Formats: sequence, C-alpha cells, structure tokens
Amino acid sequence: MSKNKEILIIENPERIDALVNKKRSLPSDYIPGDLVVVNTLHKVHNDEAKMLRKEAADALEELFNDAKTHGYEFWATSGYRSYDRQVSIFTNYSKEHGEEQANRFSARPGQSEHQTGLTMDVSLASLDYKLTEDLGETVEGKWLADNGHKHGFIIRYQKGTEPITGYKYEPWHIRY
Ligand code: DAL
Ligand code: ZN
Repeated sequence: MSKNKEILIIENPERIDALVNKKRSLPSDYIPGDLVVVNTLHKVHNDEAKMLRKEAADALEELFNDAKTHGYEFWATSGYRSYDRQVSIFTNYSKEHGEEQANRFSARPGQSEHQTGLTMDVSLASLDYKLTEDLGETVEGKWLADNGHKHGFIIRYQKGTEPITGYKYEPWHIRY
C-alpha cells in the first residue's frame, strides 16, 4: 500500500475482492483488462456502462436468469465507469449539492466501485429504470437483497449503514 494523505491507493485493483471505499482508492489510470458487454437486459446512458468484467458479467446473467424464473425482470442501468467519467459526475453533483452532500451518494473519483467493473446498478421497468430507494420496497428488490449472494452479489450500501460506508442506502447498487 502506498499512502496519499489518508487515502490508500490500492496496489492490486484487479483483485476480484478489491475493497474500494472512502479510504481506499483505485489508481486513476486503472481500467480493468477484461471488460465485456453484459448479456442481460440493459438501459444505459453510454456504452461503457453496459460493461462489466467477464466474471461479474457472467454472474449477473445468472442472477437475472434466476430472477426471471421467479417472474422478476431486472434491467442493468450502470456498470463500468471510467475514472474520468466519475470526475465529471462528482464535479457536477458537487456544483449542485456541495461536495460534502454530494459525497453521501456519489463517490469521489477513484473511490467508486463502478471503476472496478464489478458493480452494476439495477432497476425495473415499473420504476421507469430509475435508481430509487423504492426498489428496496418492491418484491423484486427484496428478492435481490435476499438472493443476490447466491450469484456473488451484495447490496453494498444498505439501509442504516451510512455511518459505516459513508453512503446513503442504495438498494440498486450490487457489487460482485
Ligand atoms: N453511488 C456510488 C456511491 C458511487 O458513486 O459509486
Ligand atoms: Zn452504483
């Protein structure tokens, strides 16, 4: 680990269990080497957001297929995100909300799990593909929280865990 103020720069960001948080940043030049387009339903705003690392993409496909057997249809809405895109997103939210408030729901560049290519934001047609806490109250969102782990995924930012994670509840953000 090398130290940059109080934030560690992760030395092996390609590890499948790489822990990324407000104290452990990915290198700004880290781009996963094995990104693929997910083979699931998706509704994304840009081409990179359709991508995950191969292992996570395969697991997401299995997760969505499992959901389908229960009659639940998930949509992938935001997967891989480059460092530069996170710069732009966080800068815009900071202008709108102030940096501190923005950082309660948006990661600083280098600190977003989306840059690992191991995280997908998911939603439903019935929620208009939006990322909303309402997902957690739907039968689909509850199923996801209870069963995602069977395919390797967890809800990373759970209700009531802001003192630990530093982020508000995000029932849509699943980390492989
Ligand atoms: N919304 C999560 C915290 C992110 O920006 O990665
Ligand atoms: Zn997310």
